[in-house]
Amino acid sequence: MNITKLQDIAKSLVASKKGILAADESTKTIQKRFDKIGTQSNPETNLAYRKMLFTTPGIEEFLSGVILFDETIRQEIDGVSVPKYLESKGILPGIKVDKGDWRVNNGLNGLERGLAEYKKMGAKFTKWRVVTKVEEASLDFVDGNAEVLSKFAVLSQQAGLVPIIEPEILRDGEHNLVKCQEITSRVLTKVFEKIKASEVDLAGLLLKTNMTTSGQDNSHQDTPEEVAHATIETFNEVVPKEVPGIVFLSGGQTPDQATENLAAICKINGPWQLSFSFGRALQVEPLQVWAGKEENIHIAQQAFLERCQKVSRARSI
Ligand code: 13P
Repeated sequence: MNITKLQDIAKSLVASKKGILAADESTKTIQKRFDKIGTQSNPETNLAYRKMLFTTPGIEEFLSGVILFDETIRQEIDGVSVPKYLESKGILPGIKVDKGDWRVNNGLNGLERGLAEYKKMGAKFTKWRVVTKVEEASLDFVDGNAEVLSKFAVLSQQAGLVPIIEPEILRDGEHNLVKCQEITSRVLTKVFEKIKASEVDLAGLLLKTNMTTSGQDNSHQDTPEEVAHATIETFNEVVPKEVPGIVFLSGGQTPDQATENLAAICKINGPWQLSFSFGRALQVEPLQVWAGKEENIHIAQQAFLERCQKVSRARSI
């Protein structure tokens, strides 16, 4: 394992003005997204959509990396493998390696082999997501998830791939900001306890997590300043400063909400690079405009570029 190289990749993923596009929706999830535009998901339509995103002229100014799904990393854009295509634009290809079954060690078996294959295909980094619902965050549950993340991080670094550990606290529910902060803090504390007890190099990984917000069904929605204070307060308590960057997921916030909250968080700042790794907040608008039609590609790309630019600006405040 080349530690310096891992650290360099981690740093370049959170380079100034840039962030990560999460385009790693599983087969089931991409169908859910396509349902909104009445399109059937299959390997061809999935590629047509993702090609529209990846070939958008100018995105390399705002995107440092793209997280791919297993199907996509094996596909080609104009005769070039997707990871090679992205790299030719100066965008680092990454790969989601959890199987969406976060509660058990499922997927860790055989992961070593999978990682070696992805590395050969050109992946530079990996992502593993574990999900916690606020009402399910018992100590045992949180402990089990943290264990999975630390084992994943060790294997990923050993394979020469920068791990993005993604413990997500879902926005589902009526909980308030204080509750979200309590659970986020509980989850992140456990994650870093386990990571520190393992052989993981903290400077060669990234943390991807949620902003601290009230639940989406709470009638009170927080101001960006409230979100920012709670988020940074939590991180200051639990995220080691050796971690080079924290990238946020958007978690079902609207594109504007996620962008405004990111700007407020970055304004307060901290010892890490703060950036984005949005899925929906970057994709909702171009997906809607594209609507599965070839003739809409150009305007969909404009919508995508505009959102990338706004989010990049938000992190540069
Ligand atoms: P959202 O930004 O849509 O929450 O997706 C980010 C992600 O990668 C979830 O794993």
